[in-house]
Amino acid sequence: MKLGLNGQIALVTGGGQGVGRQICLELAAEGARVVVNDLFAERAHAVVAEIAAAGGQAWAAPADITRQEEVAAMVEQAAQHFGGPVTVLVNNAGIIPERREKGGRTPAFVDMPVADWAKIVNLNVYGTLHCCHAVLPGMVQSRHGRIINIISEAGRIGEANMAVYSGAKAAIAGFAKALAREHGRHAITVNSVALGAVSHEGIKDGPLSIHATVENNELLGKMLNAYPISKGVGRLSRPDDVSGVVAFLASERALFITGQTLGASGGFAMV
Ligand SMILES: NC(=O)c1ccc[n+]([C@@H]2O[C@H](COP(=O)([O-])OP(=O)(O)OC[C@H]3O[C@@H](n4cnc5c(N)ncnc54)[C@H](O)[C@@H]3O)[C@@H](O)[C@H]2O)c1
Repeated sequence: MKLGLNGQIALVTGGGQGVGRQICLELAAEGARVVVNDLFAERAHAVVAEIAAAGGQAWAAPADITRQEEVAAMVEQAAQHFGGPVTVLVNNAGIIPERREKGGRTPAFVDMPVADWAKIVNLNVYGTLHCCHAVLPGMVQSRHGRIINIISEAGRIGEANMAVYSGAKAAIAGFAKALAREHGRHAITVNSVALGAVSHEGIKDGPLSIHATVENNELLGKMLNAYPISKGVGRLSRPDDVSGVVAFLASERALFITGQTLGASGGFAMV
């Protein structure tokens, strides 16, 4: 199937590693000009270099998406750089800060410091709101747009010790449905893609590390059993299991899909 993303200008938040990086590479390979956002400039520039080496077009846009003024400036500069408004927005940046910062298990809600709630909500919720708010006027004007939110199955079925994260991701799924209703008349689609555990190069240890095996990581064996497709292929999902779904939703072929949450988790949740 030809997705035909030539002519699209795609902004991917948190595009510097992991799932976001692969989404950038895939959208560029399909012909989109890609705005690679990341909090860390060196990550964004490295992905831009990868895309250029493969013959694609990309531009690095380091910015903290929790800061509304940085997002507004980034979207304006991207339009100037590529000579047109952002037509595809992938709200990918978002993770569980306390797990990444402190390692190990995440705490139960009652044990979680209030300051950590804000970090999770600011990145997963406000980051997405800021980006949608910045790109929508251009999409409305051109009567074309695709907004794709990367959420988690935790937001659809809940996950113990991830209560605030689950709530933040569920908030985005609801927000997406409302935006889809508001902007259908502008031919803008808004959808969410719910992931399960994704193993990638940015995760340095634990069962999601690309070096984990059932021999060296006991938890990985248990996790593989929780995902129907993982039982068949003997591995967790990877970024390239997600990026094709995003590219499809970004394309004209997906015009009549809006307000949906699509699971790309190997059947972890079937709702
Ligand atoms: N990896 C998983 O197992 C998994 C599971 C379910 C859902 N998800 C979701 O998939 C998405 C990507 O996950 P990942 O594992 O690739 O994440 P990651 O943490 O590996 O990468 C996220 C990127 O976002 C960037 N980032 C962080 N804060 C930012 C900010 N304020 N502004 C701009 N960029 C910022 C980081 O620098 C990083 O490069 C997230 O929304 C996550 O919640 C991931």
